[in-house]
Amino acid sequence: FSKLRGRGVWRYKELIAGKYKNIVSINEGNTPLIRSSNINDNLYFKFEGLNPTGSFKDRGMTVAVSSAVSLNYKTVIAASTGNTAASAAAYAARAGIKSFIVLPKGKVALGKLAQSILYGSVILEVDGSFDVAMDAVMRLYKDLKVVYPLNSFNPWRLEGQKTIAFEIAEELGVPDNVIVPVGNAGNIYAIWKGFNELVKTGVINTIPRMIGIQAEGASPIATAIVKGKDSPDFVENPDTVATAIRIGKPVNWQKAMKAIRESNGTAIAVSDSEILDAQKTLARKEGIGAEPASAAALAGYIKAINEKVVDKDEKTVLILTGHSLKDPDSMTKAEAKRILVNPLHMEKIILGEINGSNS
Ligand code: F0G
Repeated sequence: FSKLRGRGVWRYKELIAGKYKNIVSINEGNTPLIRSSNINDNLYFKFEGLNPTGSFKDRGMTVAVSSAVSLNYKTVIAASTGNTAASAAAYAARAGIKSFIVLPKGKVALGKLAQSILYGSVILEVDGSFDVAMDAVMRLYKDLKVVYPLNSFNPWRLEGQKTIAFEIAEELGVPDNVIVPVGNAGNIYAIWKGFNELVKTGVINTIPRMIGIQAEGASPIATAIVKGKDSPDFVENPDTVATAIRIGKPVNWQKAMKAIRESNGTAIAVSDSEILDAQKTLARKEGIGAEPASAAALAGYIKAINEKVVDKDEKTVLILTGHSLKDPDSMTKAEAKRILVNPLHMEKIILGEINGSNS
């Protein structure tokens, strides 16, 4: 690591496969690894919400869009639950090429949709889940050779995302556990691949256990892992408040199950109420705002400790994949005191709050 120069994803360019004539970057990566101050001393948050468009997707998008441009593509496409769309839209704009995004209508968090509008993508909405949008993109890019696909079956996406592992190893060494929310299942594999490559090059000599978290209503991989099955049963109508991971048919399920099993890890399903509680805990105990899918990692950590799958003395990193501002509706679900006041008489209310005598 000491020989590397620069910051962010391209700091690790020697470890990123592929050749790129042009690099399309918005200074992604180099996200903070924040140590927990009020939950557990051995817990760290890798806050991917601080990437240029507010999610880890930017790490993959800088590499994939650089690849598209290097291959002279003028058009890109991605199916998305929202974050891939926002990221694809931004990087395509930066590259000066056209982007199409395919979204499940009515199931994308407001912040993400707003980003895609702002960055100028053409938005195609389908009546159906992400899985329907994904199938459509898989069919389309094979027939329509002029569009370059930016979903995570594109290997360059995962090449960029594996730098999450590099940054963790460089800053912290090798933790005992890395906990990752799982949707289309590319990211957990990418991070595992990153740690493995560091072992192969002799930088580290062991890898963390990879623990995948899914929402109960969209948990094909967690169910298969818990039941010890070789392959998942896909979920026909996935549902969860964590719309980012509302996916029933993860494209990268094989890769994710390999990463989990070969790292001696596991997968856990958490309920929507556990996710929303964890989102609030993270905000109110640590001052960190993450979207529900990301908070699922904390919900999973709490469950893993309760079920003695993880020990509280083990060094554990949660990947907080996206920023809370992505999903304003989920934030406003947390209960809050909002009091209509006479501006001239606020003193009594404030003192009442401080002394606990208002309620
Ligand atoms: N967390 C967030 C905030 C996400 O947006 C996603 C995926 C994941 C976790 C899961 O990552 O798919 O690699 O297992 N979002 C995709 C999208 C599906 O379209 O934005 P994964």
